[in-house]
Amino acid sequence: MVIAPDCLLLQRMNNPKRYLITSALPYANGLKHIGHLAGAYLPADIYVRYLKAQKRDVVFVCGSDEHGTAIPIQATKEGTTARAIIDKYHPVMAQNFKDLGIAFDIYHRTSDPIHHSTAQEFFTRLNDNGDLEIKETEQYFDEEANSFLADRYIRGTCPNCGYTNAYGDQCENCGKSLSPDELINPVSTLSGKAPVKRTTKHWYLPLNRHEDFLRNWILKEHASDWRSTVVGQCKSWIDGGLQARAVTRDLDWGISLPDSVEGGKGKVLYVWFDAPIGYISATKQWALDNGKDWRPYWEDKETQLVHFIGKDNIVFHCIIFPVMLKLHGNILPDNVPANEFLNLEGDKMSTSRNWKLEMQDYIDDFINKENGGSQMADVLRYYLTLIAPETKDSEFTWKGFQEANNSELVSIFGNFVNRALVLMHKLCKGKVPPLHADLLTDLDKTTIAEFQATKEKVESLLEQYKFRDALFEVINLARTGNQYMQKKEPWIVAKQTTENGQLTVDAQQSIDNTLHICLQLCANLAVLINPFLPFTARKICYLLKVVDKMLDWENAGKIKLLSVGYSLRAPELLFRKIEDSEISYQLEKLQASIVDREASDVNKEKIMEEEKKSETSNLKPEIVFDDFAKIDLRVGTIVSAEKVEKADKLLKLSVDLGFETRTIVSGIALHFTPEEIIGKQVTVVVNLAPRKMRGIESNGMILMAEDNAGKLYFIKPEEAIDRGSTVS
Ligand code: MF3
Ligand code: ZN
Repeated sequence: MVIAPDCLLLQRMNNPKRYLITSALPYANGLKHIGHLAGAYLPADIYVRYLKAQKRDVVFVCGSDEHGTAIPIQATKEGTTARAIIDKYHPVMAQNFKDLGIAFDIYHRTSDPIHHSTAQEFFTRLNDNGDLEIKETEQYFDEEANSFLADRYIRGTCPNCGYTNAYGDQCENCGKSLSPDELINPVSTLSGKAPVKRTTKHWYLPLNRHEDFLRNWILKEHASDWRSTVVGQCKSWIDGGLQARAVTRDLDWGISLPDSVEGGKGKVLYVWFDAPIGYISATKQWALDNGKDWRPYWEDKETQLVHFIGKDNIVFHCIIFPVMLKLHGNILPDNVPANEFLNLEGDKMSTSRNWKLEMQDYIDDFINKENGGSQMADVLRYYLTLIAPETKDSEFTWKGFQEANNSELVSIFGNFVNRALVLMHKLCKGKVPPLHADLLTDLDKTTIAEFQATKEKVESLLEQYKFRDALFEVINLARTGNQYMQKKEPWIVAKQTTENGQLTVDAQQSIDNTLHICLQLCANLAVLINPFLPFTARKICYLLKVVDKMLDWENAGKIKLLSVGYSLRAPELLFRKIEDSEISYQLEKLQASIVDREASDVNKEKIMEEEKKSETSNLKPEIVFDDFAKIDLRVGTIVSAEKVEKADKLLKLSVDLGFETRTIVSGIALHFTPEEIIGKQVTVVVNLAPRKMRGIESNGMILMAEDNAGKLYFIKPEEAIDRGSTVS
């Protein structure tokens, strides 16, 4: 049998020499919410902690994305400069991640000179190699602001979903990536005006040249090891036809094109060209800081590169950046485990609509509070992993958060560790009891076997980026621990005393074995939970009086982590209960943000009403009675009605006025069918000069009232009266 070459590739990657793990660089235009955390940061951190516990060579990079139009737009909102915006948000974002235990090896920033030169060098190499195309095209331009309108400087209706406020680079509603030309009714966000077109020159990355490569690499090589949601999105992109993508912009905020590039003056690199290169710059800075060589991480095929992102970033990380990497001579990502979206209390999380839970808010309310602490960071990490949107969108609810904490972390995991320590102090004099190997029961043995089995399951799941399933296995081991204790009942065994009140030897040995196994299980749980809940793992180490080195992954599955006779600390609770009042407080807070939203809707309505009022108060000039008396109004009955050919608004009516029947053409065909108006009484202006419409002479006009919504009503007597009656 011949082994297919891609099998060989997969086999080799099972044991890579080193790892480079990235999390999407968040825009430094505002604080990030827990949807971001669950999507790109927490799973990456879990994976990295796992690899590091295995003593693998791994570098975890991230940083702030500080270019693009999002930054100066935020600056305008806040009445400050782009520079001030990134300097304000970058440090807070870095601190938020730290507080939640996201342990990047470096949290860099794309405004750093090392990044500017790295990105410029990258561009130059592609340009010099003829891998870019230069084109002159017409692009939207705001004459009032004297500026081209790239990306977020232009909004309009999304051609995909009809959302009226889509950006020029992406629709926030459906997630589709767009170009300004695709927007329907484009409007400049600078002046609010409709833009004009102007000619400008730009550099393009011709993705179309790389279709074969992409098809092969994603749809064949990675068809089964990448998430199906990721492969699916790539496939629809490729099948939709790959096009050249502009990688430069006419903007004044960003990385200038290198001086050596002819005609590049005044232009900057497109933010999605520079930002992913930020992963490389960050690695370079990390290497400088640590006396390492950055090159193998980006150039040696034995490096496993993994990008953790949210689903709105898939095309950039799976299609565009890989093409750039290939052209530049770098390695390609081994996997891009993109997450779907996390909703919040029944609605899409969104910064612009202010429907979100910011990391900062959680940190303020739970971690920095007196009864909080870092353990509370783990509670959020726990719940977010439990509901991780790995295969489909999922939902954060405060009730779910409380439930996960109270009935799993407190009642299962924390409870087990606590009981083990309490009983050890009570029944084993505060020391790790011996294990009497010859007295092990079947239950003891199967429980011990679970240590290793869980370790293997967790490993396999983590290596497939199935974080929620992996976490479930760890909690399940704690559950097994509780059941074990419940079955062995050492507190009952402790009642087997001799006549003089001494514990029998058998009883003491049974208790020793039970608690020895329970304590070793606590140590195992610390090792296994460490990637997910690092603060908790360290707290267990503290209680067991062992150094953090015990958390090395190789220790999982073992029964000999704690030495016999070793005295341990007094128990302390790992997790505290979350009270109903805390949850209702959070729900009220969120509700308040809906109120805000509604308040702003109410405002909008008020403005609209006022506009309407001014429209209706836009009265016609005064007339005298004689002017009015000139109009002859009569009541008539519609006796026949038919559509006028080729005029979809017109109906041809015959109106019986008593003294005669008249033909009247009326523009009401969009409001009424002929059938429904036959027999109705109406008011007619009978002395209006005849008018021809579509070749038909109209002898009069029917009076109609129109409401604010544009609906039409006939003006007619309260009840049917004689035809020809006058109206005045
Ligand atoms: N700032 C982008 C976002 O928030 C992500 C950039 S990821 C990188 O959607 F690869 F470009 F760095
Ligand atoms: Zn859309």
